[in-house]
Amino acid sequence: MQAIVMTDIGGPEVLVAREVPAPQAGPDEVVIRAEAIPVLYPETKLRSGDFPLGAPPPLIFGFQAAAVVAEVGRQVDPALIGQRVVVATKGFGAYAEFVAAPADSVVFIPDGLSSVDAAAVLMNGSVAIPLLETATLTGGETVLIQAAATGIGSSLTQLAKEYGAARVVATAGGPEKAAQARNLGADEVIDHNDPTWTMRLRETLGGATVDVVFDAIGGATAAELLDLMTPLRGRMLGYGWLSGAPAQVSASDLIMRGLTFTGCAGPDWLDRVAKAGSAVLARAAAGGLDPLVEAVLPLDQASRAHRLLEDRTPLGKIVLRPAPGVS
Ligand SMILES: NC(=O)c1ccc[n+]([C@@H]2O[C@H](COP(=O)([O-])OP(=O)(O)OC[C@H]3O[C@@H](n4cnc5c(N)ncnc54)[C@H](OP(=O)(O)O)[C@@H]3O)[C@@H](O)[C@H]2O)c1
Repeated sequence: MQAIVMTDIGGPEVLVAREVPAPQAGPDEVVIRAEAIPVLYPETKLRSGDFPLGAPPPLIFGFQAAAVVAEVGRQVDPALIGQRVVVATKGFGAYAEFVAAPADSVVFIPDGLSSVDAAAVLMNGSVAIPLLETATLTGGETVLIQAAATGIGSSLTQLAKEYGAARVVATAGGPEKAAQARNLGADEVIDHNDPTWTMRLRETLGGATVDVVFDAIGGATAAELLDLMTPLRGRMLGYGWLSGAPAQVSASDLIMRGLTFTGCAGPDWLDRVAKAGSAVLARAAAGGLDPLVEAVLPLDQASRAHRLLEDRTPLGKIVLRPAPGVS
């Protein structure tokens, strides 16, 4: 079968198309014939060595894939064969024509939702919904959504008012992404490529404060935001560090302002993320969450897809599609 082998840790060029043996389902696994494989931002970090990989290369890269179940292991209900699903691998093996994954990772794709859209929206929505639940917005509060045009930020922006935000202030990089964040539901957008963007935020707020920060950028700017947050009530939810470092916020920073910081990552968080999957696909199928697909590229263009993501040009998810009938 066709697969993308990560030959080493490094730049996008380490993702190489190869012919490899197809996987067989382990006892508690399914094998799907993949039609749509989302390229996920954290995958670029695993490839580059910024995040720990869990096993040494060479290995077949990738986390998630969508399509039809082709085979099940002996402990798995055979009724799954032929079902349209998205699966999450144990960390490797999704950039391939056939993908083995634990049967308990299966999320069924509802009628009316394409496998491309399901693949594109699953991660974004599944992180956004637990974040919004954790925020417990009251109906009258102001939120700050970082990197709001794409990825998890795009789902947060689409859903924030439904979950109780009154005013949605967003950040995005450049005018095109700012326009997209506005279209998705942001009331005001600040360009986070401006190194003084937290000062622009202060001007935008005009004396008001932010009740909830969905922090994807982390680093030093997280500390700059604390004085713009509502004392005694402000909550910062840290779920990413696009700047390259987690939020540089200390306990005393928070205590002296009566703020809270909630970490939204790690194994228990990811269990919550996984549980949100079905609701996210149902919502997308009903038209309540735009999957925002930038492009569907042939699987053998995985390295190009990583390059595009690292250049920050896509306005939506890049989805890889194996060439039909290659195996
Ligand atoms: N905790 C969790 O459960 C979880 C799960 C998945 C991902 N994550 C994390 O969440 C964050 C966002 O992931 P995603 O999948 O939603 O990404 P994404 O939106 O698909 O892609 C990254 C976006 O972030 C922006 N960006 C890139 N570098 C940046 C920087 N240095 N400063 C500010 N913005 C930058 C770019 O937008 P602009 O062009 O607008 O700058 C780009 O469109 C990442 O840190 C990721 O690792 C967390």
